[in-house]
Amino acid sequence: MDRTISAEELDEDKFDVSLRPQTLNEFIGQKHLKDNLSIFIQAARTRQEPLDHVLFTGPPGLGKTTLSQIIARELGVGFRSTSGPVISKAGDLAAILTNLQPRDVLFIDEIHRLNPSVEEILYPAMEDFKLDIMIGEGPAARAITIDLPPFTLVGATTRAGLITRPLRERFGIPLQLNFYEVDELTSIVNRMSSLIDLPMQADGAVEVAKRSRGTPRIAKRLTKRLRDFMDIYHSSIAVDELKAAAGMDRLGVDQNGLDAMDRKYLSQIAEFYGGGPVGIETIAASLAEQRDVVEDVIEPYLIQQGYIQRSPRGRILTGKAYEFLGISPPPIG
Ligand code: ADE
Repeated sequence: MDRTISAEELDEDKFDVSLRPQTLNEFIGQKHLKDNLSIFIQAARTRQEPLDHVLFTGPPGLGKTTLSQIIARELGVGFRSTSGPVISKAGDLAAILTNLQPRDVLFIDEIHRLNPSVEEILYPAMEDFKLDIMIGEGPAARAITIDLPPFTLVGATTRAGLITRPLRERFGIPLQLNFYEVDELTSIVNRMSSLIDLPMQADGAVEVAKRSRGTPRIAKRLTKRLRDFMDIYHSSIAVDELKAAAGMDRLGVDQNGLDAMDRKYLSQIAEFYGGGPVGIETIAASLAEQRDVVEDVIEPYLIQQGYIQRSPRGRILTGKAYEFLGISPPPIG
């Protein structure tokens, strides 16, 4: 299902590069994480050393890629970007690593999806800046070690639990991104509106923020769609709360920031599975979605907002979910 509020990156988001914050100061929210990161960056710069390896974890759309680019810029070094599934062979990774300049940032998105044989050559590369590779095949094969320029690996993953322990332990700076508060998203909507020349009133920005599922990527996308509605229906009038609400309703995003997929998720558990507990595979099959999408994209926000709980036997709807659906919970016992 296409979701206007999907946090997954769509092609159009990739053209947004100039709309992304360029410095830690411009980056809104995640204050605790930013404060620490800023110290680590300054210290590495002062010592003229590469920054220790960084692992970002958190749901999609919260700024993992943006922060990685900011790290490189603030360190004053180059930025190379790739992703776990793209590096299929050890040789692909070797080519990338040997082409880095000293202290460069190498960003690997979806690092939990690295091929195990690739992951293994990453360990000595991260730890000792050495590459152990085999040259040739069969009896003529021999192992050689290549010195690499010291570099910073920045990995990103939707869940820390998906990464193997030896890999996780090689990151000196693990950083968890959390969903954003409404006031932070309001600032992001205001920043976005001025960048795209959309006149926005204070109450309009709050309304968009409340419906953004705690996610800047969604806030930005909703703001852009709102500009489309405003351009066509209300040219050069500022967005107020009513117009923002009408636009969001039209996009299928309700007052709680939930979209059609969220509502389907909750109502199916209520109607088909008596409110749970129900296993993740069953939910994924009945929504016709991949398990990863359900776990990484749909559920984190529903859990954070208290609509569902995870238990060893599966997902369970909470009282809040029943209230939201407007139905009474099954009797206890
Ligand atoms: N764009 C995406 N995430 C952002 C953030 N946290 N602050 C400012 N702009 C953003």
